Amino acid sequence: PPAGPCAMVVFGAAGDLTSRLLVPALYNLAAGGLLGEKFVLIGLARAPLTDADFRAQLGEALLRHATAAVDPAVWDALAQRVFYLEAHFEAPDTYARLRRRLAEVEGEFNTGGNALFYLATAAEHFGGIVEQLGWAGLTREQTDHWRRVILEKPFGQDLASAQTLNARLRRDLLEKQVYRIDHYLGKETVQNILVLRFANGLFEPLWNRNHIDHVQITVAESVGVEKRGGYYDRAGALRDMVPNHLFQLLALTAMEPPTCFGADAVRTEKTKLLEAVQALKPAQVPAHVVRAQYAAGTIGERALPDYRSEPRVAPDSTTETFIALKLAVDNWRWAGVPFYLRTGKALTRRSTEIAIRFKQAPYAMFRDTPVERLTPNYLVLHIQPEERISLEFGAKVPGPAVRMTGVGMDFCYNRHFGGERAIGYETLIYDCIMGDATLFQRSDTVEAAWGVVEPIFAAWNNSMADLLTYPAGSWGPQQAEEMLGRDGRQWRSTD
Ligand code: BG6
Repeated sequence: PPAGPCAMVVFGAAGDLTSRLLVPALYNLAAGGLLGEKFVLIGLARAPLTDADFRAQLGEALLRHATAAVDPAVWDALAQRVFYLEAHFEAPDTYARLRRRLAEVEGEFNTGGNALFYLATAAEHFGGIVEQLGWAGLTREQTDHWRRVILEKPFGQDLASAQTLNARLRRDLLEKQVYRIDHYLGKETVQNILVLRFANGLFEPLWNRNHIDHVQITVAESVGVEKRGGYYDRAGALRDMVPNHLFQLLALTAMEPPTCFGADAVRTEKTKLLEAVQALKPAQVPAHVVRAQYAAGTIGERALPDYRSEPRVAPDSTTETFIALKLAVDNWRWAGVPFYLRTGKALTRRSTEIAIRFKQAPYAMFRDTPVERLTPNYLVLHIQPEERISLEFGAKVPGPAVRMTGVGMDFCYNRHFGGERAIGYETLIYDCIMGDATLFQRSDTVEAAWGVVEPIFAAWNNSMADLLTYPAGSWGPQQAEEMLGRDGRQWRSTD
């Protein structure tokens, strides 16, 4: 059914997020008949713009960022319900004006008093905006209407600041009103992890320590830090990617089956999984964590300078742009199964995948091919750039001799379902308006994730691990290979 009725208010509407992601996603929802007539968008920012200016700006941006040819009739109908409020989110009268505006659109477009506040601002403003919304009575729900707030990462810089932010949000909002976005959960292939595991009888019986040797999660980016040096140099690869995106992939891959596909059931299992990740002791950090920064190099034809020469990066920066981790999950299913995670910028190519490595056949029946030379059995969930699932196994080469080689079975989303592209925010916005929080982060999940990485920061602060370097265009430092090599394993080559 179409989502709505509702007024969506975007704080920081002049920014990139609105034009690059939100509006194209809203357009896709509208084009697919998934946005009701009673939906209104109010953009709030400081620039002096009229409704007409704002609509024109968004319309232009839509042409640049849309995932398919824009149908002017669909956009025009949506644009009629787009408004602009020139305001500064720190000014107290902003919230009284916003309240009046919401009352107006409610009268005119029957939004039913439902309002979704999307905080597309820097994270340091989240607490202040929610507080002011609260003072203005804008977060109060009634039996006949709801109020929700969407936030994007970062949810704090560490455990303590995440707890402070959550406590601050709780003063004005119930947990069920807070929708924390991790954009990885908007990716089809990420959502499909649950379907693959729990809608099939085939995989789950094998999905444990008896059959799985280890799991590898790779989120490799070929871009460098680009224009985000100011933010990134303070964050680094661990903060930027691990407690959020990589841990989403980890949690979905390793969690227990929830009792149903409901928000609390799913989120409870994810939290339990993250809470079961063994906290590293400071002395373990050097052997379980590899951190590195890129040096100059070339990626394909593109030459990248060293990280320290990137704009807005400190010339003596010790921020990591690559991290590899070896983690253990302390529970019945996974005891003794290592989870290797790695992510970095300026790597050979863009590739996000989860590789499940099954145990080797126990005995070398084919004497000419010793066990260690058998094709490793991998189930690989390729998340981007290609969206596919592949299974690797050994087969006999035709001919009189018994010779084996590795072969694969491959399921490719595009080939099967056609290539309709999406922004990745469609489901998230739709679900939020429909009140389904399954794909959003609950506060305890966020805190559990920070809890896992906290000891790593502590060890680094006590300079317990070296910062290595790797040339841009490589797969990271050799030490990341060695970390697996010490366990008699290696990273699956990502082609
Ligand atoms: C963001 C990080 O959350 O995710 C970026 O801040 C990173 O540094 C991006 O590039 C990766 O997202 P995706 O969807 O391109 O894998």
